[in-house]
Amino acid sequence: MRFLVTGGAGFIGSAFVRTVLSRDPEAEVLVLDALTYAGNMQNLATVAHAPSFRFQKGDIRDPQAVHRAFDLFRPNTVVHFAAESHVDRSILAPGDSVSTNVQGTVLLLEAARDHPPDLFIHVSTDEVYGSIDEPCSADESFPLHPSNPYSASKAGSDLVVLAYGRTFSLPVIVTRASNNYGPYQFPEKLIPLMIANALERIPLPVYGDGRQVRDWLHVDDHCSALRTLVDRGRPGQVYNIGGRLALPNLEVVRRILHLCDRPESLIQHVPDRPGHDRRYAMSTGKIEVETGWVPRVAFEDGLRHTIRWYLEHPEWVASVRTGEYLDYYERNYVRRGEAACG
Ligand code: NAD
Ligand code: DAU
Repeated sequence: MRFLVTGGAGFIGSAFVRTVLSRDPEAEVLVLDALTYAGNMQNLATVAHAPSFRFQKGDIRDPQAVHRAFDLFRPNTVVHFAAESHVDRSILAPGDSVSTNVQGTVLLLEAARDHPPDLFIHVSTDEVYGSIDEPCSADESFPLHPSNPYSASKAGSDLVVLAYGRTFSLPVIVTRASNNYGPYQFPEKLIPLMIANALERIPLPVYGDGRQVRDWLHVDDHCSALRTLVDRGRPGQVYNIGGRLALPNLEVVRRILHLCDRPESLIQHVPDRPGHDRRYAMSTGKIEVETGWVPRVAFEDGLRHTIRWYLEHPEWVASVRTGEYLDYYERNYVRRGEAACG
């Protein structure tokens, strides 16, 4: 099997590469990644020397780079992770999300038309359904109702991928996963940011009242779901992938503080995220019934293991919390807080 993995130097993409190379001795992998602030070769250090692993630095918005990957490698499976993946950054710079997430995806699909793979998996998100009122949950036919530039760009790319499947008979699958957590996650997302701040004993910034609900999925469960769909997914279909767990953000933050042995007084409520979705909730019966996949990592275990990973990798954390990160932190937290206080 020849896997082209876009965004394979990021959090989930690198976990997927590690999963494939450890489970499929016959598999070959080419990672195509632009190495943005979120891409990190350290995430691939454990596989970088495997003879079946190759890396191409390239932007999915660059037709030459994309065609080169398809021409030279001739993948039979494409797993497309590359994206601007952070909601807060998409609010600060919406154009980046649209260009990478929509236009970049179109370029990949065009290359796939020239060299059709057996399967093209587009890795998407539960955010495309928008905020869901209790007691509802979104199945795969639920209307798309994205609330922010990131989720709008992912919804746009989902529709383009499905359209290429219908119009050009490309064998595509769209997956929509809930919030991932685990080792190697960039500390701009809730769980790694809160762990990093707790370990440093600096305030943990909770948006608004902190009662927003998210479903948490361990990254290894997400990757095993994707690997299962490579074998058993039906082209043309959308699959929700969730952790069967819904928690308010405040509860997650409290558990992190407890596991890090830090006081709850470190919690700091800060001005809310604009357009903040209140609740994500999906039904995930389709993948479970069709393929037998179920999430296996209990949140308590996954969270404890994740905290231990950050504790044991201070050099990784220090290397990603560089000037760019500090600038982002200043723009997203410090200036926003000051503006809100007048
Ligand atoms: P990430 O930000 O950690 O990694 C993104 C990777 O894409 C990085 O390696 C980056 O260098 C690369 N990239 C960005 N722009 C690129 C471009 N123009 N060309 C080539 N490479 C580029 O993201 P993640 O959290 O690993 O998410 C991966 C995918 O999964 C995304 O498509 C995201 O929408 C989706 N997803 C994420 C979550 C989550 O909770 N993190 C949940 C559901 C779905
Ligand atoms: O639901 C899947 C999505 O999960 C993915 O598609 C995205 O790529 C991924 O970034 C994530 O999006 P969220 O916006 O849900 O994740 P984030 O970690 O940014 O925030 C989770 C919740 O925590 C959300 O309600 C906002 C809140 N939050 C986040 C940060 C970073 C805070 O209260 N404070 C914070 O500092």
